[in-house]
Amino acid sequence: MATQLATNVTWHDGEVSRDHRYELMGQQGSTIWFTGLSGSGKSTVAVALEQALFKLGKLSYRLDGDNVRLGINKNLSFSEEDRRENIRRIGEVAKLFGDSGVISLSSFISPYRADREEVRQLHLDAGLNFVEVFVDCPLEEVEKRDPKGLYKKARAGEIKNFTGIDDPYEAPITPEVHLRTDNMSVDEEVDLILDYLKHNKIIRI
Ligand code: ADX
Repeated sequence: MATQLATNVTWHDGEVSRDHRYELMGQQGSTIWFTGLSGSGKSTVAVALEQALFKLGKLSYRLDGDNVRLGINKNLSFSEEDRRENIRRIGEVAKLFGDSGVISLSSFISPYRADREEVRQLHLDAGLNFVEVFVDCPLEEVEKRDPKGLYKKARAGEIKNFTGIDDPYEAPITPEVHLRTDNMSVDEEVDLILDYLKHNKIIRI
């Protein structure tokens, strides 16, 4: 975890509580954390889930690796240290969204188990739901899909430290939801996540 450098700062509570916000929205603020290889389908499922939740009158908001790396995290590379900082910052942002009552849909490769566990702990310590969704797809299949042509470049040595090629991906051991995007439809995947959210009373229909 990062060290606190700012001094003489204190947390200021408002008059509207988290429970009030949850009641207002008929949902519990939560973080749904999609992890998986590039091209595994994290963003695709997140987009479809966002739409399904919207139709149910539930507010969610997507935080996406590529998008975030064009903005708040544009100063970070793909070194192990910077990937850690990428995930730490997003974890903090997701935590704020959760406290606001929104369900954030965070799609990041997040290849290191320890980094994901830190984000999970951050949420648990704050009394917020953390739902890890393993977007599982074999390397062979994502290489075949190669939607951005990046695997080809990585194989050719034009991109260094590419996850799955010359950089590691540590799969979740006990994710809350496990999707196999090589043999499930996007609709089935969304249904599986919705079932989890309903069953755990994260959304009230
Ligand atoms: S993470 O490892 O730090 O979680 P993140 O999800 O933010 O990664 O960004 C991954 C996206 O960045 C990929 O989908 C791909 O488009 C792009 N990318 C560029 N270089 C790399 C690399 N070396 N490894 C993985 N993804 C890369």
